[in-house]
Amino acid sequence: MAGLFITMEGPDGAGKTTQIEKLKDYLSCKGYDIILCREPGGTKISEAIREVILNKEFKEMGYMTELLLYASARAQLVEQVIRPALDEDKIVICDRFVDSSAVYQGIARGLGTELVYEVNQYAIGDTFPDITILLEIQGKEGIYRKKNQGSLDRMESEAAAFHEKVAQGYHTLADECPDRIRRIDGTQSIDTIHKQIVQMIEDILRTK
Ligand code: TYD
Repeated sequence: MAGLFITMEGPDGAGKTTQIEKLKDYLSCKGYDIILCREPGGTKISEAIREVILNKEFKEMGYMTELLLYASARAQLVEQVIRPALDEDKIVICDRFVDSSAVYQGIARGLGTELVYEVNQYAIGDTFPDITILLEIQGKEGIYRKKNQGSLDRMESEAAAFHEKVAQGYHTLADECPDRIRRIDGTQSIDTIHKQIVQMIEDILRTK
C-alpha cells in the first residue's frame, strides 16, 4: 500500500475531531500505522502561524493575508509531516486541508476557489487527499455547539451569514468532486457517523 491520505472537513463544530479520534482508534486496532494532524497547525511553525491566524485581536487581517497564512502553515505541514508519512506507507488523517481554504477563503470570503487552489499548488504540490469525509451541518448549528464548548476564535466569531456561506460552500464543493468528497449527515449520532466513516475507509482500503 502506498500510503493513504484522508482529510476530514466540515463547518466549525461539525464534530470532526471526535470522529477523527474514533477512526484513529479503529484503524490502530487493525494494525495500521496512523499519523494524525490538524490544520492550521501540526508542526511547531504551523502552530505558531495558527496563533496569528486565529488571534481575535487581529480584526484588521486582510483576506489575502489570511489565505497566504493558511497556505504557509500547510506548506510546512506537508513538507515536514504529511509527505514523509505517506512515503513510508502510513495512513495520514488530517483535520481540515486545502478544501477548507477553498470554502472559507475562496467561497465565504469571496476570493474564488480557482485562486485558492492555484496559490495552494505551491504549498502542497501533488500531495492531495485520496478521500475527504465531509460532515455536513448547518452553519448556525455548528457555532451553537462551539459556543457551548467555550470562547470563540477569530474565525468562529464571524457573523452567522459567514458560517451559512461556509456550510453552503461545502455542499457546492462536494457536488463538484463526488468521487473524492463523501458527504455524511453530521446531525446523526456519533456512533452512526463513525460506522459510516469506517465503511467508507474499509471500502477504500480493500481496493488499494
Ligand atoms: P479550529 O479551531 O481548528 O476549528 P475546527 O475545530 O472547526 O476545525 O480552527 C480552524 C479555523 O480556521 C476554522 O474556523 C476554519 C478555518 N480555516 C480556514 O478558514 N481556512 C483554512 O484553510 C483552514 C485549514 C481553516
